[in-house]
Amino acid sequence: MNAMEIKKDIHWVGAIDWAVRDFHGYETPRGTTYNNYLIMDKEITLLDTVKHDFAEVTLRNIRSLTDPSKIKNVVINHIENDHSTSLGKIMELCPKATIYLTEKGKKGLDKFFNTSAWDIKIVKTGDTLSTGSKTLMFIETPMLHWPDSMMTYIKEDRLLISQDAFGQHIASTSRFDSGFATCESMTTLDDAVVDYYANILMPFGQLIKTKIAEIQKLGIEIDMIAPDHGIIWSDPAKVIQMYLDMANGKAKLCVPIIYDTMWHSTEDMIPHIVQGLADAGVDSKVIKLRATPYSIAIKELWKSRGAIIGSPTLNNLMYPTVAQFLHILKGLRPKDRIMAAFGSYGWGGGAVKGAYEEFAKMKLEAFEPGLEVMYKPSAQEEEKSREFGRQFGEKVKEYHSRY
Ligand code: FEO
Repeated sequence: MNAMEIKKDIHWVGAIDWAVRDFHGYETPRGTTYNNYLIMDKEITLLDTVKHDFAEVTLRNIRSLTDPSKIKNVVINHIENDHSTSLGKIMELCPKATIYLTEKGKKGLDKFFNTSAWDIKIVKTGDTLSTGSKTLMFIETPMLHWPDSMMTYIKEDRLLISQDAFGQHIASTSRFDSGFATCESMTTLDDAVVDYYANILMPFGQLIKTKIAEIQKLGIEIDMIAPDHGIIWSDPAKVIQMYLDMANGKAKLCVPIIYDTMWHSTEDMIPHIVQGLADAGVDSKVIKLRATPYSIAIKELWKSRGAIIGSPTLNNLMYPTVAQFLHILKGLRPKDRIMAAFGSYGWGGGAVKGAYEEFAKMKLEAFEPGLEVMYKPSAQEEEKSREFGRQFGEKVKEYHSRY
């Protein structure tokens, strides 16, 4: 896609990655974009770069507006590879440009590049840069998403360049939320926001709340948020509220059953558990891990107030896909969710116990005891499964009422 003006003299010059399906292990069925922005002011200023594979794409977009050698300033809001690895190629074309980034950004950049010949200025929250008619103010946002991260606010345009925050992994011909309704739908965009938050930002809910409060305290008005991935928000209030809701633990009264199975015994318990949940008036969704990317299972869990994990026992342990899923979940430090587990075993259990041990490590509330059946559920055990679902449904409703 060609460069596009998003505010007067501020242009999107990024790249669309339609094909990426594995983003450092996070499945991205919708692809992504690497957004960066060029300010065509007295001092031409580039905000962020793109993933190295797309260096020529952003350079083509920059060249459609100016000769890259005229770039005076380069702001690096975040040094992760998807945003900074084109910097070397860009600096070859404008070697006298000044780079603005945080102290931790500089430390990281020194590991990725030989920066000895570059003019680098370290900035902190509140520091400003005038490009002529525009004032850029930097806001440090450590751990959103890496320790080096910051955002750049352009005062005259009330525009927040937010790097990873408020982004989504979605490739689209649309650049704005307002035009996002052709091949995709708004529901898809909302879903992409939740997906990104669940898989990348879930551990940082408290930080997100603090940072949004800090930005509000600065008294700055924001009428557009331009992240480094996905769609630009011309209605930023909506996505800010979505972030605050997620950071405050908002979830739906819904229970995904996330499971795997060896000989269908664990799977055979599920229709009865689903019926029990329905008896309690709680909607559910069934997700088989061997047929579903982990990132989608994570998103579905995050959208829901409770979740049930199903696993057969293999060599006294959880089935590998289930163990792997809980390992990923543990790293994301979920909160405000209630869990339960069930599964089948042959001669010695272990999977259900293992799942509850993981819930305890995550400090998640758990509904106990879990439910285990030997070999295959009997008619009686099918009824027990239904009752297990019903009781968990009642518990989830009670837990949900606390929010
Ligand atoms: Fe899009 Fe933390 O990088």
